[in-house]
Amino acid sequence: MIHGPYDPAMDGERVALSAALVVFGATGDLAARKLYPALAALAGRRALPHRLALVGVARTEMDDEDLRERVRKAIFDAVKTPEEMAAFEALDICVRYVAGDADDPTTYERLSEVLDECDQRHGTAGNRLYYLSTIPQLFPAIVGGVGSAGLAEEPPGTFRRLVIEKPFGHDLHSATELNKVLHAVFAENQIFRIDHYLAKETVQNILALRFANSIFEPLWNRRYIDHVEITVAEQLGVEHRGTFYEQAGALRDIVQNHVLQVLSLVAMEPPASFAADPVRDEKVKVLRSVRPLDPNEMTRVVVRGQYGPGEIDGERVRGYRDEDGVASDSNTETYLALRLEIDNWRWSDVPFLIRTGKRLSSRVTEVALHYKRVPFLPLPRTAIDSVEPNITVLRIQPEEGIEVSFAAKVPGSPFRVRTVPLDFSYRGFTEQSPEAYERVLFDALAGDATLFIREDEVDQAWRIVQPLINAFDAGTLPLHLYPAGTWGPDESNALFDDPKDQWRKP
Ligand code: BG6
Repeated sequence: MIHGPYDPAMDGERVALSAALVVFGATGDLAARKLYPALAALAGRRALPHRLALVGVARTEMDDEDLRERVRKAIFDAVKTPEEMAAFEALDICVRYVAGDADDPTTYERLSEVLDECDQRHGTAGNRLYYLSTIPQLFPAIVGGVGSAGLAEEPPGTFRRLVIEKPFGHDLHSATELNKVLHAVFAENQIFRIDHYLAKETVQNILALRFANSIFEPLWNRRYIDHVEITVAEQLGVEHRGTFYEQAGALRDIVQNHVLQVLSLVAMEPPASFAADPVRDEKVKVLRSVRPLDPNEMTRVVVRGQYGPGEIDGERVRGYRDEDGVASDSNTETYLALRLEIDNWRWSDVPFLIRTGKRLSSRVTEVALHYKRVPFLPLPRTAIDSVEPNITVLRIQPEEGIEVSFAAKVPGSPFRVRTVPLDFSYRGFTEQSPEAYERVLFDALAGDATLFIREDEVDQAWRIVQPLINAFDAGTLPLHLYPAGTWGPDESNALFDDPKDQWRKP
């Protein structure tokens, strides 16, 4: 047997209990690209529950064997190692399929029968993890259907959990409404809202760096830090997701979720413990402290952009308005730079500068903490090649690692000083990082909600971005075009005009 006991590399103490994984949207893109390969990878790590049933639900008419074949193909297309494929093949996973509409009660009646069969014949012990991998418009119907069929109630000793993908609402109001829909059926501790950034090893490493070392935390505040930059830059354009992206833009696609999650980990106070609620309590406190953007200030602290045609790695690429599913006069931003302030004792007067964009010149996600200048440089001017304030860079991707820059004497005489990097690369670890979706699936099966977003975090994140949504809708913020393959509109460089505001060039 390949599966179980649980891989200590994945997690020594937590246990993913036997369960049925019910994937709504089982024939969709996300399931094929992320979920099924994640199952194979977990199998390869021996981290899957002892008994697992995969129950797919979608509209396509097909049978259990068809779904099994799709899962095999998705895994075959995605797995990195033959071992993963072999481990998955060797697994005794029961694959079942239920065809039906999300708003048809008989879909859930059939699902209920199939789940009972899984319990009886496959030992899934009444545990269910419902995974919403559909378009968000279907979330209310599915949750309602699951609720009406009595499939959310937890008989003693079992769990019924709901994993929900982003986007979680499209503004503050719709997110609040969606939370009401979920809570009519599931309690908050049954709900696992995904932000796949939280499942990235290097995002979690922010916590390790801050709270497992004594050398960083004493400097991690307004006394020493001048400003913080958070960059999420992508080379990719909108690919085949033009229709979705038209409704989202960079604000909803990246800032409301991934960027604010990273910001909360960088800025939070030490949690009482690393359990789910203490960590999320501290994150939400930070989000609550983010100063609301003043509509009258917005043109000074926010820059919107959209990519036009350009060149990426020597290849011509089309502009956003020429992408499939995008309006030829689209006003959607593919780039956003903004400045946020956190009103608390630790961060008062330390700007958090955020930028994100598609079709930028390289792919890089990082957090850069810029320290203050030394108060006085007791060196002759001729001694200084290029002494810059210290920076700690947390490189989240692609070159995962940490870099600290500091001044050092240039060898030889006369006396000269230059800024040099001290570099740690994650490649130094021999252990392999699990993919974000492996982590998400394992943690949800193990019932650990630390890396999932709580209701109050969602509310606070929407509260922060709602003034921007209002301004975008009112057309009060101009949209600047930038050529694909550049670092975004020039206006963002001029956005902040004091020395605090020089962007680091990644
Ligand atoms: C997704 C966005 O949430 O994150 C995509 O919808 C984006 O538009 C992606 O490309 C970026 O994720 P990663 O893991 O590649 O940084």
